[in-house]
Order: sequence, then structure tokens, then C-alpha cells
Amino acid sequence: MCGIVGYIGPKEKKEILLDGLQELEYRGYDSAGIAVIEGEKLNSFKAVGKLENLREKTKNYASDGFGVAIGHTRWATHGKPTELNAHPHLGSYSYVVHNGIIENYQELKNELLSDGVNFLSQTDTETIVHLFEKYHKEGFDPFEAFKRTIERLEGAYAILLITEAAPDTIFFAKNGSPMLIGFGEGDVYFASSDTPIIGKANEVYYLEDGEYGYVQNAAVHLFDTQGEKHFTKAPLVADKAMAQKDGYRFFMEKEIYEQSRVMGETIMGRVLENEIVLDELDASFFEDINAIKICACGTSYHSALASAYLFERLAKIRCDVEIASEFRYKYPLLTKDTLFITISQSGETADTLEALKMAKRAGLKSLSICNVDNSSIVRESDRAILTRAGIEKGVASTKAFATQTMVLWMLSLYVGQEKKTISSDVLKREIDAMLHTPKALIVEDTLHERIHRLSKRYLHGHGFFFIGRDIFYPLALEGALKLKEISYLHAEGYPAGEMKHGPIALADSELFTIALMPKTMHYDKIKSNVEELSARDATICAISPEPFDLADDFIQTQYSSHPMVEFFEMMVVTQLLALEISIRLGNDVDMPRNLAKSVTVE
Ligand code: AGP
Repeated sequence: MCGIVGYIGPKEKKEILLDGLQELEYRGYDSAGIAVIEGEKLNSFKAVGKLENLREKTKNYASDGFGVAIGHTRWATHGKPTELNAHPHLGSYSYVVHNGIIENYQELKNELLSDGVNFLSQTDTETIVHLFEKYHKEGFDPFEAFKRTIERLEGAYAILLITEAAPDTIFFAKNGSPMLIGFGEGDVYFASSDTPIIGKANEVYYLEDGEYGYVQNAAVHLFDTQGEKHFTKAPLVADKAMAQKDGYRFFMEKEIYEQSRVMGETIMGRVLENEIVLDELDASFFEDINAIKICACGTSYHSALASAYLFERLAKIRCDVEIASEFRYKYPLLTKDTLFITISQSGETADTLEALKMAKRAGLKSLSICNVDNSSIVRESDRAILTRAGIEKGVASTKAFATQTMVLWMLSLYVGQEKKTISSDVLKREIDAMLHTPKALIVEDTLHERIHRLSKRYLHGHGFFFIGRDIFYPLALEGALKLKEISYLHAEGYPAGEMKHGPIALADSELFTIALMPKTMHYDKIKSNVEELSARDATICAISPEPFDLADDFIQTQYSSHPMVEFFEMMVVTQLLALEISIRLGNDVDMPRNLAKSVTVE
């Protein structure tokens, strides 16, 4: 989703902006642009497509001396990905970049059109810069004009605005979309997340919703509805080396290989020999809680679906799961004895964040499971458990899913432990399996090589069915999502027992079935379901520890004594299969078409 970078200070600004935007590439974008004001000089450049195009356009330009600069990567919402629609948007003498959606932009645009303002783009964002200049031309000083502009906006936004009317100033505002301020040596940075400012700034302030203000020279003036406010900077601690590819072909591949290590971090200090310890929660947290509702989107939703089996089976607590975008508009019945859990890799997903706000308004206790500390969802929740997966750059989520599922599994045991609904024997069995999981996630060369070879047979056909039962059904959904995200082939996940209720009509040799056949869970049942498909000539790729005669292809996993260990092993197989198919098809694995890493619009 859109990314924002800003800078005010004496350093060369083009490189700061372009490098910063590069760090935000993982969010997804289809055009980019920058604008710089130095003294009286105002320069701007825009390009459609990848950042190299913008680099090419700006190759003969370099800024000189003190100035203000803003940059943006745009993921199209209102209007096609064209240069005219790319940010920064120009008024007569000011530029704006914006992440989010201005919901009342049409009303504002009509008002400005009737004043004779000429619009160049189809975007909601352009209204902001014209509104600002309207107030400024009416005689308000630049900050008052900016303040009045912000007061008129409805919807979600992170905004930076620069103007020739105040060439030493950047104006900023945040409501519902992420933005932070980074503090360097005599200069100030803005960004949508930490990564663009790592190595440049030493301290950071994460803006809250409703905050706005301006930076003049290196001094930040921050306001909210109560007026100017003091704020406390936090040290910026982050390790950029983590975000490099380390010799892997794609970030997604690196992140698949990292799963074993990060899983060790996820459980460290939390999974003890006979007990689950979650410092983030205190003993009274579950006291009045009799049910759990989980809201999430995409891959995070799949981890939630898997966990619902665990909460009910292990902790004996009612658990239901909803897609956040559906939950928002269904007028849900919410009771205060329900714990509201949100799951999000980025912590910025607009639908999940809004669902959380709804639940809070209804008085529910909230807990988020997230990979990004200080993200909007973490800050909005009563409590948060971090997944500790490290920065995930591949748009197709892998290690975030693995660690989310682990945290949820831990949480199910923790609830059972606190509510005394789990026996010590069962707790011990689960803990032993958890401690074994990092080992089960090690990617063996032979496995990867086998999947690489098999992948060439799965580049065509009229679709894939991933099938599984119980927790392997959400894993089937996730396997299908991974494949379609990066291969652009049609894939669906199905509960194996449902195939005969309709989908089996599609079966023929060009229908590829990826069958998740764990030995520890309903093996005979799923075997029968696969036999039904095989009898109709479907091409079967079985993933199982147990050799299976009817499979056209077979990927062998380890025998294990616990379904969750089988789950994680099969997860790796489905991830590698999607990766290898996508690579053979020549796709951009890390930045698949039309997708964004952080979906900050509805
Ligand atoms: C995962 O591969 C997807 N890119 C997507 O489904 C993602 O999981 C979804 O947008 C939710 O994101 P979040 O976890 O950051 O909230």
C-alpha cells in the first residue's frame, strides 16, 4: 500500500527519498514520485512502474543545500496508475503526498471545482493541496491553512505537504494510516515505517491518530485537539542487515528458510518445560472471558481458522473466527465476556484495525497478535503478543503465518492452563511438540530439490485444489492462497470431505489436487476422499509421511507423533511448491502483481 518518505535538512535529498521509498517497496505500489523545495527552487518527478523508472528520470538531478522533500509510492485506489495520478500532487505552489482514502473527497472536489479550481488527476489526494491553497489564498498563514484543511478531511490519511509559501517547513497529519517522525543530527525524517530511516535517524516518534503539526528547520511542533503538545522520542533500534536477501533468490525464499530460527525466537522464554509463560498477559486477563472471537484478513485469517480448532479442543473455550472486512458491516452481536483477538503481520491492515475499534467501542477486551511493534493495531489493543518473526519483505507471507500460528497454539494452551481446562499430561504433550517444531521447519536440500523438480509438471492445467481436514483445512486454504498470489494460477482450498458436494465435478487429468495427508489425523478419511478424486482421473500430488499408491506425485514428510508438527512440515512444502512454480513461470515472487504488503485501505 502507499508509502511515504519525507526529509527536512541540509543533506542531498533525492537519494534519501529514493532509498527510503526502496525500503517501502514491500508495501506494494504501481507508481512513485518525489518533490523537493530548496530555496526558491521547486522540483518534482514522477514515474509509473518500478522505482528504477523514477531513478532514471532523476539521474541528472541532485538537490543542493538546505531544503524540504517528500516522496511517495502509490498503490492505485482512485484512478489508474498513471503519472498524472502519481503523488506528489501539485496545486499552484504546494505539493502533497498522502496514504489512505479521503472519503468525502467528492464533496470537497465539487466545492473546489465551483471555485474554479482545475484538477489534473482522478485522485482523492489532489483535493488536499487545492484546499490548502484555497485557505492560504484567503489570507490564513500556511499552518492555519493546513489545520483548516485537515479539519475538513474525513477518512484515513497520513499526509505530508510542502509549499513555496513556507519553504523551510513540512506540514504533517496522521489519522488511521501509519506515519512516524525520525530525528537525526540536525535533520528530521518522515516515513510510513521504520525501515527507511534506519541508519539515518537515531530517535523516533510514532504519530497517533488525530496528531498533526509542522517541522520548521529541525524543530517539530506537534498538535492534537487540545492544542500543541509535548511528546517523547524513543530510541530507534532496528537491524537493517536482517532485511537483506542473504544470497537467496528472493526474500520469500529466505523467509521460508528462516522459519526454523524465528520459531525458536517465538517460543523462547514462553514455552517452558511444563508451562506456557506469556509476560504480556497477567493472571486476571482471562478471568471474565468465556469466549474468543478472532478477526483477521488473508493469511492471518487462515492462522486464526487453524487456531479455532485448538482453542476449542485444548482450552475448551468457544472460539469463532471472522474475516475482518465482513465483520465490520454485519452488525455483530458482541458480549463483554468475549475476548476480541486481531491477527496481523503488518499491524496496519485497515479492515482489521477497524474491526478492533468496533469491538473496543462495544466494550470488549482486546488482544492483538502482530509482527510489528508500535503498529496501529498493537497500539490500539489492550494487550499485544509479538510474533518475533523479524521483518517480512516478501508480499506473500510465510514466516509471519508460521509464527502467528505458533503464538495462537501457545495461547490456546495458556488459556487452558489459566482456566484449568487442560490436563497436565495434555499440556506436556503439546509443549514437547512445540519444542520440536523449530527442528521440523528446517528445510532439507533433498526436499527442496524434489519440489523444484516436481514443480515443472504444475505450470498449466485448469486449476488446483488443496485439500485437507481439521487444522489441515486452513492449511489447504493457505497453500492455495500462496500459490495463487505468486503464480497467478487458479487455486482453491477445500475441506477434503466437501469435494463430493460439488467441486469433484471439475475432476479430470488437468485438475491438480494437492492432498495434505497427515498420518496423525484422519488419515483413512482423507485417503478415501483422495481415492474418489483419483477414480475421476484428477492428477494427485500427495504430501504425507505414508507412501500412497494412487498419487501421481508424492512428497514425503517425516513421521511425527503430533499433528501440529505435521502441520508445520506440510506448510513448508506448500510454500516451496508455490515458490518454485512461480519462479518457473518467471514471476516477481516478492512483489506479485496487484498485491500490497500492507493493506491500509478498505
Ligand atoms: C499474505 O500472503 C497476503 N499477502 C495477505 O493475505 C495478508 O495476509 C493480508 O493482507 C493480511 O495482512 P496482515 O497480516 O498484515 O494484516
